[in-house]
Amino acid sequence: MWSLFFVSFGLLVGIGAQPTDKAAKQQNLDWWKTSVIYQIYPRSFKDSNGDGIGDLNGITEKLEHIKDAGADALWLSPIYSSPQKDFGYDISNFTDIAEEYGTLDHFDQLVAKAKKLGVKVLLDFVPNHSSDEHEWFKKSVKRIKPYDEYFVWRDGKIGPKGERLPPNNWLSVFGKSAWEWNEERKQYFYHAFVVGQPDLNYRNPKLRQEMEDVLTFWMKRGVDGFRVDAVNHMFEVANLRDEPRSGKAVPVDDYDFLDHTYTRDLNETYGVVASWQKLLDNFVAQHKTDGKLMILEAYTSIPKSMQFYSVGANPFNFMFIADLNQNSKAIDFKRKIDDWLNAIPEGKVSNWVVGNHDNHRVATRYGEKREDQLTLLSAILPGITVVYNGDEIGMVDRPFTYAETVDPAGCNAGPDRYHLKSRDPERTPYQWDATTSAGFSTSTKTWLPVHDNYKTLNLAAQKKDAVSHYKLFQATTKLKKTPVIQKGRTEVLLAGENVLAVVRRLSGQGTVTLLINFSDKPVKVDAKGWLNIPMKAQIYAASVKSGLKAGAQVKVDDVTLPGAASVILYSRA
Ligand code: NOJ
Repeated sequence: MWSLFFVSFGLLVGIGAQPTDKAAKQQNLDWWKTSVIYQIYPRSFKDSNGDGIGDLNGITEKLEHIKDAGADALWLSPIYSSPQKDFGYDISNFTDIAEEYGTLDHFDQLVAKAKKLGVKVLLDFVPNHSSDEHEWFKKSVKRIKPYDEYFVWRDGKIGPKGERLPPNNWLSVFGKSAWEWNEERKQYFYHAFVVGQPDLNYRNPKLRQEMEDVLTFWMKRGVDGFRVDAVNHMFEVANLRDEPRSGKAVPVDDYDFLDHTYTRDLNETYGVVASWQKLLDNFVAQHKTDGKLMILEAYTSIPKSMQFYSVGANPFNFMFIADLNQNSKAIDFKRKIDDWLNAIPEGKVSNWVVGNHDNHRVATRYGEKREDQLTLLSAILPGITVVYNGDEIGMVDRPFTYAETVDPAGCNAGPDRYHLKSRDPERTPYQWDATTSAGFSTSTKTWLPVHDNYKTLNLAAQKKDAVSHYKLFQATTKLKKTPVIQKGRTEVLLAGENVLAVVRRLSGQGTVTLLINFSDKPVKVDAKGWLNIPMKAQIYAASVKSGLKAGAQVKVDDVTLPGAASVILYSRA
């Protein structure tokens, strides 16, 4: 029997993968157009020195994996100096490396090896806040110029009994007041996230210049772009109006208790993003490098996301995380995908985020039967696929007790509600193999415990198996490099009530069709009748638990899809 890999390779020749055009290679301005971006959570990826914490040398050691998986770029969650109150998103020096992760030399070595392998490197740029241990904050507390204005400081209010109160009702994303009193400066500072993450003041031109210098520093060190953190939190209204209640049944100090009309998505954000995009584009023009990608984290509405495209940047598309889940129906997926594709401006690149370090793992969110569904869906849709390390092997959340919890979002929520907020379950160490600590570390004590299932669920095992999540993932990253997927027309359709179909066609290059059965029972589909695809087709790839074999011929007018199965068909015509 053909292995999935062999079949995939054979079919790809059929689909017409072309050698890269040398001329276009010279300055590849939009290398990300149909790329796969692989997110690395450095703390949990690979520990090279046995301290139980992942590090840069560990990542460098494992870079071949990114290449082997077929990703085009890696995005590193923050690696900068940090007291790690929010595991790296609290930065005490934007242009240096956290001691436990390594040094700038290690970083240079990582970039050099990635370049050799042809893998682009994206960094996490965290503009909204620094750490309270950053020099700027320490000077701001002391009102030393110009740092005195680098953060969002306000006087308190006086309460009915003469007591000191925060300036307004704003809440932190991680719960409780977003204002913290500073005894030395005798003012409150605003922090959208943990207390140790004071918000930076983007109404201050000097601060804006400092942050632009940070971008330039890393571009000079060879990075290919940035994932921009929490970008829609950058501004708050200056008049400090209280935010309205959301009406949600949550505790009064839970972030969701309020609607965030005055602290999120403010229009000024787009001006700052435009200036960063210009900075990146100018750098590319001046240094004749490949394009620099800026991809933004903003959990927001489609119109507000689209506004980022209009200033030249790319907003993450979080629909598979924020809007859809394992209870969604075929029509829900169709509607959401249509909404995005209808809204995106002509010529702009879509992206499809499958998972990240802030949300339950895709295999947990969608359940065992459907864990491959999004691998296939994100691969066939036009644009960029964004995956989180471990999703390519179907890693699942590890349940945590409150006592084990270290994520501030979980700790702040307290013992009764931590499980609703904590992000520890999706951050456990990468499962490389069946050895000590899943091959993540030589130490048995790792910063977060390794999931118990690592002896059977690991990369090494999946490389050996003829059919595995990893083999399937590799097949889909290959598929993304074919002309049909890179340039073909896209149709998002239903083939009956429970079957979502995505068809990509390119004249002379064939037709690629994804069918997803949203019912847990088998369904019969006349794919010819519903989708008008060619009669002669074979299976290119199928979800692992479907039992369907790559390479098998399919009777297109009478396809039987097993319950919960996802399958990609390929026709030469
Ligand atoms: C979004 C990041 O993805 C998350 O991990 C972090 O806690 C917040 N922004 C604050 O930086």
